[in-house]
Amino acid sequence: MKLGVNIDHVATLRQARGTVYPDPLDAAILCCRAGAHGITAHLREDRRHIQDDDIFRLKELQPLPLNLEMANVESIVEIALNVLPAEVCIVPEKRQELTTEGGLDVVGHFESLRNTVGSLMDAGIVVSLFVDADEMTLSACKDLKVPYVELHTGPYCNAEANDRPFLLEQLIQCADYAHGLGMKVNAGHGINLENLGGILCIPHLDTLNIGHSIICRSVFHGMEKAVREMLEAMQEYEG
Ligand code: PXP
Repeated sequence: MKLGVNIDHVATLRQARGTVYPDPLDAAILCCRAGAHGITAHLREDRRHIQDDDIFRLKELQPLPLNLEMANVESIVEIALNVLPAEVCIVPEKRQELTTEGGLDVVGHFESLRNTVGSLMDAGIVVSLFVDADEMTLSACKDLKVPYVELHTGPYCNAEANDRPFLLEQLIQCADYAHGLGMKVNAGHGINLENLGGILCIPHLDTLNIGHSIICRSVFHGMEKAVREMLEAMQEYEG
């Protein structure tokens, strides 16, 4: 199973100050060095973290395949067709949400998705649809002929312990169902070291896309070093 690291929140830190650092491109290079298999970045319509230029640089200047997460809107589809990332994962997007809140309504937006999926696939981009664990939705994905679905693991990952077995069972059944329909299965959202054990029970997984928890842990893994470096640099004070 592969790991795609979502580096959006490196850009969140940068945008909080309007600086040029920390650069998601540098993060991608470190992810590659650590053995990650791919880089995921979400170009949101409101550009709250990743910017257009990041997407171009992530495609050209780091070695891992780029998975561009994006909403099904014309202006972003146009950017995807210019950048030509290895993969696009189409997600629903609402302006006010803190993060992607649910899977795509594939049945409700079938025709518009058919157009977008068609033009992305014609351009040689591998397309994935981010969906809830729901068989009717997965059948619609199959009808759209996408090679991949990404199962939304957020409801399971964020659930109280009592609710988790049922939600995990849904994910297991839907992974089986999608595999049976001939689609590859990715999973993502809310995955961390604490809930990973359950995720590993889901069959047929190709890639896990994980962002927030890795970025959060990396802050603490680097904290001691960053403080030591600053103290060391302050030793030069003679005043
Ligand atoms: N997969 C998709 C489709 C997402 O929208 C996100 C969040 O941007 C992720 C994976 C990663 O989720 P998290 O940051 O919670 O690990």
